[in-house]
Amino acid sequence: MKRKDLLSIYSLTPDEIRELLDRTKLLKKWLKENVSHKPLDGKTLGMIFHKPSTRTRVTFEVGMYQLGGQALFLSGAEIQLGRGETVSDTALVLSRYLNGVVMRTFKQSDLEEFAQKATIPLINGLTDISHPCQVLSDIFTLEEKFDSIKGIKVAYVGDGNNVANSWLFGALKTGINLSIATPDNYSIDPDILKKAKALEGKSEGSFKIFTDPVKAVKEADVVYTDVWTSMGKESERLEREKVFRPYQVNWDLLKHASKDVLVMHCLPAHRDEEITSEVMDSKNSVIFDQAENRLHLQKSILEALLG
Ligand code: CP
Ligand code: NVA
Repeated sequence: MKRKDLLSIYSLTPDEIRELLDRTKLLKKWLKENVSHKPLDGKTLGMIFHKPSTRTRVTFEVGMYQLGGQALFLSGAEIQLGRGETVSDTALVLSRYLNGVVMRTFKQSDLEEFAQKATIPLINGLTDISHPCQVLSDIFTLEEKFDSIKGIKVAYVGDGNNVANSWLFGALKTGINLSIATPDNYSIDPDILKKAKALEGKSEGSFKIFTDPVKAVKEADVVYTDVWTSMGKESERLEREKVFRPYQVNWDLLKHASKDVLVMHCLPAHRDEEITSEVMDSKNSVIFDQAENRLHLQKSILEALLG
C-alpha cells in the first residue's frame, strides 16, 4: 500500500481495502500456526491516547510485539501535548524518534495536522467522527462469516457516531448495502452524508437512512450497534438513555431481520442498554470474533505502513 497514513476509510481505495483484508487473513493464519513473522524488527510505534481504550490499545501493542517491533504508550495527559505543546511540534519531535504513531483523540483535524507535519505514518485509533480500524476489522469478520460480502445487508441501529460514519464509507467501498437508523437529533453529520452521497454513484455499495429501527433491520443479514453515549459525550448520558431506548437491539427488534441474522457491536457494550445480554451472548452474536480480529487487521495496517 503506497500511502503514508491511515486517517479514514474515506481516503482508502477499494483495492487498498482488499489488500488489507487479504493480508489480515494470512497474518491470522500464520499466528494460529505459530509462524514467526517479524518484519518490524527494531521499529517503534508511539501510541498517543486522549481517550480510554481496551481493544485498540492492547491490539496495537500486542500486534507490534508479534511483528517484531515495540510499542510505547503515551497517555495524552502525561505528555506535553496535554499541557499545550502544539500538535505540529509534537509531530515534528516524535518523527525523530519513532517509526509510526497511532492516535486516539477528539478532533479529526488534530489528526490531519499531525499527519501533515509528521514524516512518519499516522494511524487513526478513533476520533469523534471516525473509527476506521474498527470498521475495517468488522468487514474482515463478515468476510469470515459469509461466502461473499457483496450485496449483504448490514443495519446499523443507534447513534450516528464515529462508528456509523466509518460504516458508511466501509460499506460503499466494499459492496455492502447499509441501512442506518438513528433518532432524529442523532443522525449522521450532514458533511459526512454529503461525502457519502457523492461516493454512492461510483460505488458498489449503497446506503439508506431511517429513523425507524424496525424499517432499517428488515431482512438484514447483520445488525450492528454501538454505545448510546460515546466518549466525550458523558454529560448527555441521561437524555440519551431516554431517546435511544427504542433503538435497543433485542429479540423483539431482531425478529424483523433475517432468520440467521448476525449481531455485531464494536465494544465496549453497556449490557441491557443498547443491546440485551441475551442477544450479546446468543449464537447469533459475533461480537467477540470482532474483538479478536482487531489484532489481525491492525497487524496488516502496521505492516503496510511501517514495514
Ligand atoms: N472498539 C474499540 O475501539 O474498543 P476500545 O475503546 O476498547 O479500544
Ligand atoms: N462510539 C464509541 C466507540 C468506542 C470504541 C465512542 O466513541 O466512545
